[in-house]
Amino acid sequence: MWSSLLLLCASAVTAYTVTTADQFMLKNIDPIVFPRQYDKSHMHSFFGSDAVTINTTTSAELQAGCSTAQNPNDYSIYWVPTLVYTGDNGVKTPVPLFRFSAYYVSINAAEVPIPQNFKAVAGNAAASSQADVEDLAGISWFCEGDSDQPEKDAAAFPLKTCSTHLQTLLLFHDCVNEQTLESAYSGTQNWNSTFRPANRCPEGMKRMPQLRFSIRYDLRKALPGGWEGAPPLELACGSSYCTHGDFINGWLPEAAQNMLKATSKTEFAGVDGPDGAYDAGSVCGSANAVDADPDNGTSDYAESVALLSKRSIGRRRSISGRST
Ligand SMILES: *[C@@H]1O[C@H](CO)[C@@H](O)[C@H](O)[C@H]1NC(C)=O
Ligand SMILES: *[C@@H]1O[C@H](CO)[C@@H](O)[C@H](O)[C@H]1NC(C)=O
Ligand SMILES: *[C@@H]1O[C@H](CO)[C@@H](O)[C@H](O)[C@H]1NC(C)=O
Repeated sequence: MWSSLLLLCASAVTAYTVTTADQFMLKNIDPIVFPRQYDKSHMHSFFGSDAVTINTTTSAELQAGCSTAQNPNDYSIYWVPTLVYTGDNGVKTPVPLFRFSAYYVSINAAEVPIPQNFKAVAGNAAASSQADVEDLAGISWFCEGDSDQPEKDAAAFPLKTCSTHLQTLLLFHDCVNEQTLESAYSGTQNWNSTFRPANRCPEGMKRMPQLRFSIRYDLRKALPGGWEGAPPLELACGSSYCTHGDFINGWLPEAAQNMLKATSKTEFAGVDGPDGAYDAGSVCGSANAVDADPDNGTSDYAESVALLSKRSIGRRRSISGRST
């Protein structure tokens, strides 16, 4: 009996690290989905290296910036669609952030560090129901610590106000091809009895630490009356089901390698590196991070919505123009 209990404990504990990162910018750009283009993206909230622009493609570019990550060796850029609430005046306003945390989990299963220049999008920005949501992205919305919440879809917003924080989780790919930088979730293949790779990755891919966003929002000041039933909340991409996140790796190569030192025997492991100890704080000072391209794009939510609807009206006109 003791040995099976021990096994249970061992499998529940997986090595992880985590860094928090301050939000330094709201902007209607997306260097992965709409590279080199303005006015095509919904509003995003950005965390990490402030070198990011519409043109960013490499880790080196990010490492030249000022990062808001608490781990001074992390120059990654992380972004998500902005969460907004509708106030009593009907105006849509970004929800105050409580904390953005980038967890790296299942490090004990990782064979390779997250490669330089690796980038990924997790979640389905076009989803409008739970059926459209990628199961392996592990998307959930919940009230931190509240147990008396009404039943709902995992990716739906809570149907009752939160006593403290509204929290959301999102998992990224954990398999990568180091040459092509293509990636996948582990466990997605149709294996057979003769071919079943120990790393559960598609052929040609290796396991890397799995990035997981954990974001806490504080609605207590924004919506002091709370809500019951449909919440007065939406994401810049639509309903909660379109939850997604973007990542371009900016970890210093030595620190990305050090991340693998976490083993199954450690639970949390701090990742030290050339820019200091894991908890030393941003080298440049998080408050000094600024938008690298302030004259283009917008940080105004209403303006970003207006720009997108102008675009879609234009698109409808040109489609109907073609069909007549
Ligand atoms: C992006 O690249 C284009 C083309 O090289 C350049 O003209 C533009 O200034 C760049 N924008 C930013 C913000 O770096
Ligand atoms: C099992 O899968 C491997 C890899 O896809 C394939 O090469 C092999 O032929 C398969 N074997 C059987 C018995 O289906
Ligand atoms: C961004 O803004 C700067 C300064 O106003 C301008 O010179 C530049 O051409 C703009 N870049 C693009 C790609 O529009």
